[in-house]
Amino acid sequence: MFNGVAMNILKDKRLMLCAEMVKGDAAADIGTDHGYLPTHLVLQGKCTRCIAADINPMPLDAARKTVTENGVSTKVDIVLSDGLESVELTGITDVIIAGMGGELIARIIDDCKTLHSKDNDINLVLQPMTRPEELRIYLYENGFEVTSERCVREGRFIYSVMCARFIGEKPAYEMDKRYIHLGRTDITEGFGKEYAIDRINKLKKAAEGMLKSKDSRQEGLQKAELVKMLTDQLREAEQ
Ligand SMILES: C[S@@+](CC[C@H](N)C(=O)[O-])C[C@H]1O[C@@H](n2cnc3c(N)ncnc32)[C@H](O)[C@@H]1O
Repeated sequence: MFNGVAMNILKDKRLMLCAEMVKGDAAADIGTDHGYLPTHLVLQGKCTRCIAADINPMPLDAARKTVTENGVSTKVDIVLSDGLESVELTGITDVIIAGMGGELIARIIDDCKTLHSKDNDINLVLQPMTRPEELRIYLYENGFEVTSERCVREGRFIYSVMCARFIGEKPAYEMDKRYIHLGRTDITEGFGKEYAIDRINKLKKAAEGMLKSKDSRQEGLQKAELVKMLTDQLREAEQ
């Protein structure tokens, strides 16, 4: 505390958005690295306790240092774990998996059967660095509803963070191209719109590269078609 105001140790807007999307009061941060996020959640009083987990010992040394220096070592447990394998989820309200590829995030969720139960009602806060579409498809096909998705810009990069919960059936929305590539973001304004433009530009670049080679021409044409469809949807949403 500084003059009665909790110190903010997060300098990163991406992690700030992840913190904002935590709902409950006990979060497990998987792939915590320096442990900034769980430390922040406890310092801000948003969580009464947290778990900081990582597969590698070195990041956990850094997390231990962060936790100790900020006086929250009794409230943040440091756990060496591949995904959620060694994480005790009893009483945990939120699981955060940020800063990894969409496929790895999906694999970590798939490996933890406790998450696949309506009884536990855990809010998943997910921030894929790459292949968000793989994660969205996995969630849809495995009974997880994306309840909200928000975006943020950090320098040159724009990130999406989604909240998901297990509902045990296919969500009410469609798994269409809009959901797969642009997520459940509001693409009509602000960072949501910037995110949509960024995703479309990336697909466009990939399509152009593919169209240059005879072997990948067919795939390039499909991607170009997708780009057109998403661009039209973005225009329609803006009207
Ligand atoms: C790029 S850092 C992201 C750190 C932080 N979550 C963030 O978003 O800034 C990825 C971290 O995930 C850890 N990691 C990678 N695979 C993992 C797994 N299967 N289980 C737990 N942690 C993992 C790495 O050791 C690394 O510390």
